[in-house]
Parts: sequence; structure tokens; C-alpha cells
Amino acid sequence: MSEAAAERCHVNLETIVSLCKRRGIIFPGSEIYEGLAGTYDYGPIGIELKRNVRDAWWRSMIYERDDVEGLESAILMNPRTWKASGHVDTFSDPLSDSLGPSRKRYRADHIEETECTAYRVINATEEANPVAYGKAEIWAGSKKKAKEFYEAYWKKHLGITDERVKLEEVEGSTRKGRFSPDDGGVLTEPRPFNLMLQTQLGPVADSAATVYLRPETAQGMFVNFSNVQASMRRKLPFGIAQNGKSFRNEITPKNFIFRTREFEQMEMEFFCKPGELCREGERNDMDWFAHWIEYRLAWHIRYGLKKEHLRVHYQAANELAHYSKACGDIEFLFPIGWNELEGVANRTNYDLKQHMEFSGKDLQYFDPELNAHYIPYVIEPALGVDRACLAFLTDAYTEEQVKEDKRVVLKLHRDLAPIKCAVFPLLKNRPEIVAMAKNLCRDLKQSFYAVYDDTAAIGKLYRRQDEIGTPFCVTVDVESLEDQAVTIRERDSMQQIRLGVDKVREYVAEELRKARG
Ligand code: GAP
Repeated sequence: MSEAAAERCHVNLETIVSLCKRRGIIFPGSEIYEGLAGTYDYGPIGIELKRNVRDAWWRSMIYERDDVEGLESAILMNPRTWKASGHVDTFSDPLSDSLGPSRKRYRADHIEETECTAYRVINATEEANPVAYGKAEIWAGSKKKAKEFYEAYWKKHLGITDERVKLEEVEGSTRKGRFSPDDGGVLTEPRPFNLMLQTQLGPVADSAATVYLRPETAQGMFVNFSNVQASMRRKLPFGIAQNGKSFRNEITPKNFIFRTREFEQMEMEFFCKPGELCREGERNDMDWFAHWIEYRLAWHIRYGLKKEHLRVHYQAANELAHYSKACGDIEFLFPIGWNELEGVANRTNYDLKQHMEFSGKDLQYFDPELNAHYIPYVIEPALGVDRACLAFLTDAYTEEQVKEDKRVVLKLHRDLAPIKCAVFPLLKNRPEIVAMAKNLCRDLKQSFYAVYDDTAAIGKLYRRQDEIGTPFCVTVDVESLEDQAVTIRERDSMQQIRLGVDKVREYVAEELRKARG
């Protein structure tokens, strides 16, 4: 992608989070109970966006191709699935605990080694500061940093209010190591922590009843490979796609919906011939790997992500997951910086081979052209729905100066826009105008999602719809009663045209169709 890609996103995460809350897109999960870390709820507008993202993906994977089948497998699977896939033994993050006052837990590989010195609190009085006085140490790169730790963390959590705090360097304490960014505490040696969430099936809580909430949708497709291939009479190459919830006990869920503990994935397993079995001119697994990276990049651009905000990072050998021999991460310039949006992996025949071994079932493919059995290779594009929503919201977010005012508008692709058309009566105290607007809205609803709104003045109604990305707004005014025509305003250009009320549905439907291309 473009070499000149900007390194800073044009919008910060707080702005997106606040818009999402204000406009019914996304709310913090269990908010009235002070939330549950790593969970979010999609509001009336957000769920439409999410559905549209899923639909756009499904269309491009299933309906617009003839080599991929759909599937919906159960979230709960026989636990041997996860033993076979390697998730029980290797799906873990290295964890370290702070020995500082917070006792916070961190991903060890997310914290760099730094040179630090220990500082001791010395002249806050013992009564004001019984925990810290003369005993507790704060590890930091400088005295200034140590004071910041003290003020931000210790004062908040221990209720210490003494302003006269002074710190003293602990002699000979300077050394390199990993320290908590929150309280300066030394971090313990990393230990592996499995990310799979467990639950119990049946009335008896013994280990035999333990099942996992799936950490990826992929395994549902591997265990159904033979079912789909035989029932749909498929020859290689072909894919199986599905969309659904996945769960991971992420240690540090953060950055809004970027990394959560419950999330949704859209994944596709594409079964193909490995290189050594291919004749000249045939696409082998690595050719399909390149194809799927291009195909997925084109999808992101088609639905509104800017080319210069996308790039591909090819993982080095030490970054690869236990099942893959190559992986291209499609990265996006999120408000938090460049980060993985989607992964395209060459999973080789690892998963099918493992399931053959653990289940004892033959999952080989019989190739009639080669007159031979073999285990297909797999290319897997895997995208998070929530992460895709965050990317689309980010690139759609626009602030414009319109005369004296700032206009916030979500320039979402029309296919992704939650509401396609909003209808307003210019005067809500004129029953004939209200009736005409409501009738029009009922008519529009037969073809796409339209809403009627009369809860504010026209200017405010436009602003609200701009903020959630509604491509068309229609106003019914006094003249409409005479000429049976209404005003349609387009979101991005703000251009208005006058059109017969009986033509609006056809006009908007045609504009939406054109946008799909
Ligand atoms: N089946 C392969 C797989 O699951 P992954 O890279 O772990 O690979 C694929 O996940 C995609 O799922 C990621 O690129 C991301 O978009 C999304 N994803 C993964 N973990 C997530 C989390 N904790 N929260 C939100 N999205 C997540």
C-alpha cells in the first residue's frame, strides 16, 4: 500500500467512543453495574451497522463467488476439538504480576525492559501515609516519573492526600527490568495463561463436563469439512465460511471494541491443493494465500477504508501461530495507531491432520484427477466484526465547517449505513404534513430501513442523521401538500432535489443499488 501513509489517525478514540454512546451505536456492557471489562453492547443504530458489515462480508464471500459454502456451527464443541487444534496446550499469553501496590497483571510481551531506579516515600507523615512511609518502593525511570506514579495511583487507591510527599532514591537500586507502568512495581517472571473460557455442561460440575466457549469459529469448519464436501459435492478448491461469536479471556481487553472478551468473527477456510501436488499453471496454496490477501484488501477499500490507511504485515517466523506457515496481517490505521484488522493465514494441513489423529476419522480428500487421497491445505482470512466496525467508523468520521457551524458526519458506505433514509415533517403541528410524512416513511420501509422523526427542529434532525451516517433525508413541507413533491437531501454533498413523493422509494433504492456497484 501507499508508502506515504499517514502515521496518525485523523480522529481520536475518545471522540468515536463518545459519538457511539451519544447516538445509540455502542454502549459499555452492564453499565449500570459499573460495566464488565471487555464487553460492549450494540445499540439500535450500532446493531444495524454490525448487521450490514456481516451482510457485506457474506455477500462477497458466498453470493459473489461460486467456490465458497456457508455454515453455522455450534459455539460449544466437544472439548477434544480444542485438544486436537492445539488450543488447550498452546493458546496462551505470557503473564506477569506487579509486585507494586496495584498487584496488576500484564502481558509480559507488551512491556519493554527499561532501566529503572527505586524511590522510597520519605516525608509524608506516617499517619497520613502508613502504607507508603519509608517502606514501599516505586520503580521508575526518573524521580519525576516516580512522583507521577505516586500521585496518580497511590493517592487514588490508598486515599493518601498529603501533598508534601518527597521521594528518596534507594541507593544502588538502578537496574534493567520490567516494571508496572501503573505503579512502578517490579514484574514477576512471565507464566503462560490459557485464553480459553470454560463452562460446565450438565448438572454435575466435574472435569468431564467442562467445555470451552470457542476462541475461534474456524474449528467448526474443520470438523465439518467432510460433511460439507460430500453433501455439496464439492471438488477442491473450495471454501467454508461462517460468522459468529468467539470468546477469549484476554488479559488486557482495551481500546473500546478493538480487543474484547466476547467478540464476533467472520472466517473462511479455503481448502486447496498443496504446492507439490499441483501441475504447472495450477494455483497452489501460496498462490491462494496471495489471492485472498488481495481479495480481502479490495473488500475493505470497496466498503470505505482508505487505501493509505491499510497495509500488509507479513509475519516473521517467530510471530506465527502454532498452526500456520505464513500469515499476512491486514493492518489499519486505527485511532490507537497501526494495528491488525484481519489476518490471512496459511494453516497448511495442520488442523485436518490433527482432527484425523484425535477423532480417528478419515478427513482426506479423494482427488479424481490425481486418483489419490490427500489432506488439503487451508488458507484462512479471519476478520473480527467489531474490529471492522471500529475501522469503518474511524474512516467514515468527518468534521466539516459549514458556515459558522461544525458538522460531524459519518460518511459510511451506503450499504453499511444503519438507516438509509429519514423522513421529517417541516411542521409537526400540521396533521396533513405529519400524515404525508408518515405515509411516505411506511412506503419506504417496504424496500429499506427508513425512520420518521419529528422530535426536533429540521436543522437538528439533519445533524442527528449526519452523525449516524444516514445517506438520505426527506422533508415534507407546506408546498408538498399542493404539489405532492418533497425535498431529498444527500448526506455528503448536502445537495437537495425536489421529487414527486411517489418517486422517492424508487429513487433512493436506485441510489443504494448504484453504491453497491
Ligand atoms: N482463526 C484464526 C484467528 O482467530 P486471530 O488473528 O486470533 O486468528 C482473527 O483472530 C481476527 O479476529 C483478528 O484479526 C481480529 O479482527 C479479531 N479478533 C481477535 N481477537 C479479538 C478480540 N479479543 N477482540 C476483538 N476482535 C478480535
